[in-house]
Amino acid sequence: MRAKLSIALLCLLACLVFACESQQTTEGPKDTPRTYTEAEKAQLAADFKKLMQEQCAECHDYGAKKIYDKIDYLLDHEQLVKSKIVKLDNPEASELYTEIVEGEMPRKFDADGKPRVKVMLPKAQADLVLNWLKAGAPAWK
Ligand code: HEC
Repeated sequence: MRAKLSIALLCLLACLVFACESQQTTEGPKDTPRTYTEAEKAQLAADFKKLMQEQCAECHDYGAKKIYDKIDYLLDHEQLVKSKIVKLDNPEASELYTEIVEGEMPRKFDADGKPRVKVMLPKAQADLVLNWLKAGAPAWK
């Protein structure tokens, strides 16, 4: 009897915890940070890495022909999250994001081979960077 009761109690507890957690994942009031599932984090990480490869690596990766502003770690997760351009406690203020949303980055080379042509990325891509930061900058595979 006792065992059955404990099991019932445990189930109830598990349900409560689950209910609380699933409530947090729905978009709450503006200041409540949203929680991300592991699957969402993995997807964000993969999408973020792809964006860095396609839009930024040319000028900001170890392997680049020339590296700009000493930022050569956009594809080095460990170094990137520790860097000054990532602020996990204030994602919106991270330069990694602000440079994109303000249209400063990425760049393209002009006719003289200087990285002066500013490219405005679509909002969805800026949002991806912001969401990746808000999710705690999960590592990619
Ligand atoms: C064609 C080359 C090029 C590409 C591609 C590029 N950048 Fe840059 N990046 C630069 C240059 C040049 C600077 C220095 C800018 C300056 O001093 O005005 C810079 C500087 C930066 C800085 C530092 C800004 C500051 O004021 O300290 C950040 C952050 C940055 N880039 C992020 C990115 C991100 C994120 C991407 C991809 C979305 C990207 N860059 C793509 C050339 C590039």
